[in-house]
Amino acid sequence: MTELSLSIRSEQPSDSDSIERLHERAFGPGRFARTASRLREGAPHLAELSFTALVGTLLVGSVRVTAVQAGDAPALMLGPLTVEPAFEARGIGGALMRRSLDAARHAGHSLVLLVGDAPYYSRFGFKPIPPGHLVLPGPVNPARFLALELVDGALAGAKGQVAARPR
Ligand SMILES: CC(C)(COP(=O)(O)OP(=O)(O)OC[C@H]1O[C@@H](n2cnc3c(N)ncnc32)[C@H](O)[C@@H]1OP(=O)(O)O)[C@@H](O)C(=O)NCCC(=O)NCCS
Repeated sequence: MTELSLSIRSEQPSDSDSIERLHERAFGPGRFARTASRLREGAPHLAELSFTALVGTLLVGSVRVTAVQAGDAPALMLGPLTVEPAFEARGIGGALMRRSLDAARHAGHSLVLLVGDAPYYSRFGFKPIPPGHLVLPGPVNPARFLALELVDGALAGAKGQVAARPR
């Protein structure tokens, strides 16, 4: 972004209303029925890994990350990643992803999961999870259930049901 000054910072409690409106616009009223959303209901997102994008004082993007249990292993569930439509394709989604993944790596996490478009998320290293290896609490297109290993071999050690991990 050249003409506007973009800043990425940790999500603040005061961001939540704007983020809720962003989610409403991007995903509509059906968003709470989505499998990933159901998983997130069980635990609040992690403030230390969730980031907000601002242009001036305008909130234009958000990424949230939630702690989950993946079989016997701890993991992270990334999402939603949302960018205000008028600000798409300016690198904001990518900046949010990189900031969040760097923070997760720095904090020693080993595995990040998400449900989303592989053609977008592959640029950050996400790959489809072999069907049946991990099971979400609801239906999901296997081609959209993706993982990024922050530590080599982390996915092999996480097998079975994915569940919310209350703090
Ligand atoms: C997906 C989303 C977060 C991308 O944010 P963004 O700020 O526009 O992304 P960036 O600017 O970092 O990247 C833009 C690039 O990604 C590509 N891209 C965007 N969405 C894509 C998708 N669903 N599949 C494949 N490529 C996609 C663009 O074509 C562009 O490609 P280019 O770099 O070759 O020009 C944003 O479009 C959005 O909020 N969409 C609605 C909500 C959503 O679907 N969220 C993801 C599921 S949780």
